[in-house]
Amino acid sequence: STEKLWGGRFTQQAAHWVDEFGASISFDQELADEDLQGSLAHVKMLKKTEILPAEDADQIVAGLESLVQQLHDGKLKFSVENEDIHLNLEKILTDQIGPVAGKLHTARSRNDQVATDFHLYVKNQIPQVVKELKHLQQVLVDLAQDNVETIMPGYTHLQHAQPISYAHYLLAYFEMFQRDVERFEFNMKHADILPLGAAALAGTTFPIDREFSAQELGFSDVYHNSLDAVSDRDFALEFLSNSSIMMMHLSRFCEEVILWCSFEFNYLELSDKYSTGSSIMPQKKNPDMAELIRGKSGRVIGNLMGLLTVMKSLPLAYNKDLQEDKEGVFDTVKTILPSLKIFGEMIGTASIHKEKMEEATQNDFSNATELADYLASKGIPFRQAHEIVGELVLKGLQTGKRLQDITLEEYKQISPLIEEDVYHDLESKVAVERRNSLGGTGFAQIKKNLVRAQNLIDA
Ligand code: ARG
Repeated sequence: STEKLWGGRFTQQAAHWVDEFGASISFDQELADEDLQGSLAHVKMLKKTEILPAEDADQIVAGLESLVQQLHDGKLKFSVENEDIHLNLEKILTDQIGPVAGKLHTARSRNDQVATDFHLYVKNQIPQVVKELKHLQQVLVDLAQDNVETIMPGYTHLQHAQPISYAHYLLAYFEMFQRDVERFEFNMKHADILPLGAAALAGTTFPIDREFSAQELGFSDVYHNSLDAVSDRDFALEFLSNSSIMMMHLSRFCEEVILWCSFEFNYLELSDKYSTGSSIMPQKKNPDMAELIRGKSGRVIGNLMGLLTVMKSLPLAYNKDLQEDKEGVFDTVKTILPSLKIFGEMIGTASIHKEKMEEATQNDFSNATELADYLASKGIPFRQAHEIVGELVLKGLQTGKRLQDITLEEYKQISPLIEEDVYHDLESKVAVERRNSLGGTGFAQIKKNLVRAQNLIDA
């Protein structure tokens, strides 16, 4: 027998690099608290079911509670020789309370243990992510509130399309983040299922009470198939997938912030607090934070691809490959929480060059649809109206004459139905205000959506 906790059937020590290569303690110590909580619930269950004598269980509970304290005080030292967080903690417990610690692992395997820890971890993180998402949504709603009548070009193909309100633009991202919130909330349903009690893969002969363990740990359900319990990582994949979609949203937003801070657009200027300079070019003010968040979306999507690839050919049930499930999730949490926070502060403190935005809608023929709609409302078939306005735009581009510069006499030659009121319709602000169809950029729609958005945040 060797010194390992599993050393009974071994006569030789593992090669030195097997210990090192196989160890996960360098990263799974992140799960120390979850592991102790899982063990506490397990031993209380062993006591309740009389699988362990009460005195033994009480001793173990006291020992584990002391470990929780020592962990919080930063006093626990882990070692690669003890492989992972589970064996490290069990070893420390044994050193501190003696051989009775060996009874803790009755009716349990590291397979259901690590799955339990990981579920607890994801369950603990989801509310943090939702909180940051809602925080960012509030920033967007507050900004939108102040910018209902801020007019800017709306784009398709990155070409000026029709004027819109900056608030409408901001609220589009609000909607994306709302779906992210809902996805993370749904993620909770699958994270909230307890694997503990599945043991190694097949359940156990001991009369355990899994519902009791679930109650102790605050889970609303237990896995109903022990093979699935120890090998399922869908809850982690869902977390990574939700995070990837969320980062994709942030990355699109960042891309626009970067464009809009350029000399060519000049719609936004980031606060000095969220910009950086250049070590060689004194005039530079760079949107580094936006670029970094855009870049970090790649890292999070990579974490999703990494775990999907680990999982895709794994036979049931536990395989050591599953030890590769954790780092990408930890890294994702450490990436998305600050990304959300920094993005919110960056966009919330940026100055908005309202005149620049509105000016960009004056000379770009983005009121062409208004004129076509005007003609159509006078009875000219829309297709014909489109053709007429298209020709006016072509001529205007050659002569520098905008649609609002064409005289009423000239318009009358196109159609005697055109009146003085056409000029009102051609103003970009009017074009925005009038788009009052449900979900449109019209001011009344935006105001309705601001109320709806605030209600969703407060829900
Ligand atoms: N460190 C392992 C992991 O993260 C714990 C489970 C080990 N189980 C086993 N049968 N070797 O997956």
